[in-house]
Formats: sequence, C-alpha cells, structure tokens
Amino acid sequence: MTDRTSLMIVLAAGEGTRMKSATPKVLHEVAGQPLVAHAVAAALAAGADRLAVVIGPGRDDVAKAVARLAPEVTVFTQGERLGTAHAVLAAREALTQPADDVIVLYGDTPLVRPETLKRVRAELAAGADVVVLGFEADSPTGYGRLLIQNGKLAAIREERDATPDEKAIRLCNSGIMGFTGRNVLSLLDTIGNDNAKGEYYLTDAVEIALMLGLKATVVAGEEEEFRGVNDRAQLADCEAIWQARRRREMLTRGVTLTAPDTVFFAYDTEIAPDVVIEPNVVFGPGVRIESWARIRAFSHLEGAVVRSGALVGPYARLRPGADIGSEAHIGNFVEVKNGHIEAGAKVNHLSYIGDARVGAKTNIGAGTITCNYDGFGKYRTDIGANAFIGSNSSLVAPVAIGDGAYVGSGSVVTEDVPADALAIGRSRQVNKPERAAGLRARMKAKAGK
Ligand code: UD1
Ligand code: CA
Repeated sequence: MTDRTSLMIVLAAGEGTRMKSATPKVLHEVAGQPLVAHAVAAALAAGADRLAVVIGPGRDDVAKAVARLAPEVTVFTQGERLGTAHAVLAAREALTQPADDVIVLYGDTPLVRPETLKRVRAELAAGADVVVLGFEADSPTGYGRLLIQNGKLAAIREERDATPDEKAIRLCNSGIMGFTGRNVLSLLDTIGNDNAKGEYYLTDAVEIALMLGLKATVVAGEEEEFRGVNDRAQLADCEAIWQARRRREMLTRGVTLTAPDTVFFAYDTEIAPDVVIEPNVVFGPGVRIESWARIRAFSHLEGAVVRSGALVGPYARLRPGADIGSEAHIGNFVEVKNGHIEAGAKVNHLSYIGDARVGAKTNIGAGTITCNYDGFGKYRTDIGANAFIGSNSSLVAPVAIGDGAYVGSGSVVTEDVPADALAIGRSRQVNKPERAAGLRARMKAKAGK
C-alpha cells in the first residue's frame, strides 16, 4: 500500500447553527485544536499525499485557519449546499489529478483514528472500488443505513428515504467513504438528487457502482470514532472521549497519572516515560516534559518545556517560552513566562519570572518578581549562576545580575549587579528606642478609647 497515492477530501461546509456561535463549527476546539485540524491530522497520518478541504462560501476564517495549520492543503469552496456528493465535487480540480485512492471524511468528526482510514485504503488496495466505513449504532436514527443482501453491501439508505424495515437496521454509514481514483469522478457525476431531501447524496455511489459491476464493500469501525459535533454538548462529549483516550495512551507509555480523570492534555502534549503527573493538572498546547520530572497538583502549563528531574508545582503556572532546566524547582504560586530556569535553579514560592534567564543553581527567594513591563515595552532580566536573590525583591528590567551575586531581601534592583557583588536596594532601617509605648498611647487617644 505504501506505493499507492491517496487524495483525501475533508468536507467542512457545515454552518453549525446549533453551536449558537459566531465561530464556525469546524473551528471550535477539542484538546486545544480546531475540529477540522483533527480531521486534517488524521488524514495526513493515514498517508494522504494530497489533501483538500471543502468549505462553505464566505468562510475566509476557515480557509485561513486551514492554511495556517497545514499549508499543503488545497481549500475549495462549495457555493451552494446541495449535498455530500456535490460537496466532494467542489474539489473536482483535485479529483482530476490521478490518485490510487480517494477518501472522503468530515471536518466535524474529530475522533477518527488514522489506523481506521488506513483500513479503508487497504480495502481499496485489495480490490474494492467503493468502501463504506460502517458501524453498529446504539441508536441509528439520523444515519444512513447499510443495506446488506446475500452478505454483500447493496445500498445505503438515508433516514428520510428509509422504509420502517430499513430504519430497524443498526449497521450505519459513518460518512467516511473510499473510492478508487480511476472511477471516482464518473461515479460522482452520475449521482442525481431524486430523494426526500433533493440533495446529491455521496452514498448513492454504492448502488451506481454495483450497477456498473464494480465492487462495494464495508469496513467496520467503532461508533465512538465517528461521533460528530453539532452542538456544544456533543463538543464536550468529544472532548471527554479524546481526553479519556489520551490518558490511557499516556499510562500505556509509562507516564504515571495518580488521578487520570483530573488531568487534561492538549493535542500535542509530549510526556516521556517515568514522568509523574499529580491530580488536577491542565496542559495547554505546546508542552514537552522529559523523564523523571514531576508535575505536582493544580498546575497549568502551556508552551513550556520541563527538563529531566525538574519539579513543578503545586499550583504553578508555566506560560509560553518557559523552559525549566533539569532538576530545577518551580514551587507554589510561581508563574514563569518566556523564562529559562537553568539546571538546578530554584524558584520555590510566590514569584513571577518573565522574559528572563535564571542561571544554574541560583535561588530566587519568595515573592521575588521580574518587573518586565513598563506599560509600553517588555524588557529582559538576566540572572547568572549560583546567585541568591533575597525574598520579595523586585528586579526592574532591563537588568543583569552576575554569577554568584547576592541581592538583599526586599531590594528594588534597578541597576546591574556585578558578579559576586552584594546588592542592597532598600532604605535603611531606623530603630527609635522606647518609642512604641508613646505611639500606642497617641493612637488610642485618637480612636477615643
Ligand atoms: C451523512 C451521510 C449518512 C451518514 C452520516 C454520518 C450522505 C448523503 N449521508 O448524513 O449516510 O450516516 O453522514 O454522519 O452523505 N456537507 C457539505 N456540503 C453539503 C452537505 C454536507 O460540506 O452540501 C458536509 C457537512 O458539513 C457534514 C457532512 O458533509 O460535515 C455530512 O453532511 P450532513 O448533511 O450532516 O449529512 P447527514 O445527513 O448527517
Ligand atoms: Ca450529520
């Protein structure tokens, strides 16, 4: 099969009014990635050599999002919504170029596995001309039913056109269909719209193929994979299934999740074996975690790298550009954004480190923050190795603190600190002997007590 070429077409022209949203349906996200991107990713992983996405008219936002996600995709517009066969034909230009197989899938079905698409391809490679990916539905209402005669696929009957007997059939069309490239166009061009909806049904390709003496077969899959999103409840259902699957995968790959159901991954979260993820951790896109790191409870990470043996949390927030070095510690209520915390450094309590480097083995005291923003621009803080920043210091960027330097607690550091220097940036303490009692007496009189 590896030497066969494949064109995959994603139908994404649904208006999605039931989402009650200003955002088109296929741009709503599961696991931090638009629905249509899930379909595109599955198609690419299944070996698509060419990929076309069919969108509705005036959907520049979808076209732009698709181009951003996968520049190799060609976007076609279906001017009028006249049915699934008509939608596929909107990509006629792509269909006229040779491909061994053509697979049609939907942009609002984010749970389809690449392996399943590969099985459709394998069936075509084995000699079928039309392949329908079917499944046994718990409640088949709304789906096209697969009519089997003498053990063979005879037709697909849409709900609205089905007789009561046909409606009792539970074997349904997932919507994913495969065609051999050499006869897909002639099949689609033969499809008419003489049915209850007056639409050009892609599913009619089965009966037409059989009339022409071609071979049409069914490949069976799991219902869960073919769940579509039409409203927010179904979006949440798909998210839940996606998360459950990914938790299983992580556990299988050697990641410890102490309370799997409370951990949420993004589509691209990468976690090495022997990482421990404690309860209630949320991953946004772009996170990679190396072995032996531990992410403690109630942490939120996005766009961050956590290197081997590092400890993050509880209650830590890693934002884009955070790079936590090996054996480094990021403690409770610490936020790191665009910051390199080098190996063995510690930022243990109540800190904000933004646009900064913290050198190896440096200790950042509780409550220390980098003041990286003056309302107009962002500035860098550079802290060397083996430095010590006393608690509750404000490091006003741009500022550099050299290796081995020591900053007294409560300092407001506005000037560079040379290596190995001691910096104290706070007003000197004044003690006035015996003055506490007098002060109290005055305050008590003022309060009338
Ligand atoms: C379709 C199948 C049905 C199958 C079901 C699975 C047909 C005729 N029926 O029915 O057998 O069981 O999917 O969910 O194919 N679309 C366009 N342009 C159009 C029409 C549809 O892009 O003109 C897209 C939609 O955005 C959607 C997909 O094609 O992503 C399916 O269309 P929809 O109208 O929902 O088909 P169903 O009636 O659900
Ligand atoms: Ca549908």
